[in-house]
Amino acid sequence: MSLDDAATKPHERMQAALRDDLVAVDALIQARMASDHAPRIPEVTAHLVDAGGKRVRPMLTLAAARLCGYAGTAHHKLAATVEFIHTATLLHDDVVDESQKRRGRPTANLLWDNKSSILVGDYLFARAFQLMVEPGNLRVLTILSNAAAVIAEGEVLQLTAAANIATTEDIYLQVIRGKTAALFEAACEVGGVIADRPEQQVRALATYGDGLGIAFQMADDLLDWGGSDGMIGKNTGDDFRERKLTLPVIRAIARADAAEHAFWQRTIEKGDQRDGDLEQAMSLLRRHGTLEETRAEAFGWSVRAQTALEVLPDHPLRDMMHDLADYVVARLA
Ligand code: IPE
Ligand code: IPE
Ligand code: MG
Ligand code: MG
Repeated sequence: MSLDDAATKPHERMQAALRDDLVAVDALIQARMASDHAPRIPEVTAHLVDAGGKRVRPMLTLAAARLCGYAGTAHHKLAATVEFIHTATLLHDDVVDESQKRRGRPTANLLWDNKSSILVGDYLFARAFQLMVEPGNLRVLTILSNAAAVIAEGEVLQLTAAANIATTEDIYLQVIRGKTAALFEAACEVGGVIADRPEQQVRALATYGDGLGIAFQMADDLLDWGGSDGMIGKNTGDDFRERKLTLPVIRAIARADAAEHAFWQRTIEKGDQRDGDLEQAMSLLRRHGTLEETRAEAFGWSVRAQTALEVLPDHPLRDMMHDLADYVVARLA
């Protein structure tokens, strides 16, 4: 690896390596997010899509297909599908979470309203389904349509677990596997499937995506407690205000003394939050070392992802996927 390589982030290196593919995917996204009949649709989609986003998931589809030697163009449609599913879930998620900031911009629910976000999110989901059908591969359809269902299940499970201070680590894992890792997993897996790779390699890609997605969401949950608003392009402290039980909190509650337990009951269970509570919660997480522990857990999943890559063909993109797994945990944004 040259010094230059070391200085750039793995997803930026991946972007450079997949430049031509990404241009084609962007063109597809632009073409398919439009609507001749409802002007609100391109307004909202342009707001979100033009803000960028890291495009990590579609890049994984492209990288998986390419490293598996795929020479066709159907992976562009699959990559665009994956980004549409992601964008649709973000529109819905920001309504559910009442978030005000996304990709460094005000959320669509803030600029327009909840109704627009929900309906344009539905439109993007429908567009995703139209796109995923086009390559005519039944297995790819199964994987992506399953992922869409599992994401929704994860979000609903999280909703019903919110405010419940008895939420276990198992439930947390189920939530993040569903709402986040399922799409990473599907994004990687369909790359191998479209390239017609042996089952063992397709499984390896799926395992990589699952581990990467879990590590990514654990890191995101850490960022909700850290990073300045400016740095991560979305709000901090959202999870506490939304009474979400993420791993650092679940572990701090498990070790709480009577006074601490009363604090969690008041703020998370009853939702009675006052000035200074966020800071108090933060100091409890520090006292019990649960932020550090969560980072260690995330690293564990990232190593699992990296290990899965070993059965795949030796390829520069495989190395970038390996580095990406380190990066998602170490990232500050
Ligand atoms: C945000 O995902 C949603 C989570 C699963 C935490 P990204 O951080 O990949 O979002 P963009 O697409 O780059 O904005
Ligand atoms: C991410 O969940 C949204 C989905 C994966 C559907 P979060 O609510 O935890 O992510 P952010 O922090 O809003 O991006
Ligand atoms: Mg959210
Ligand atoms: Mg959410």
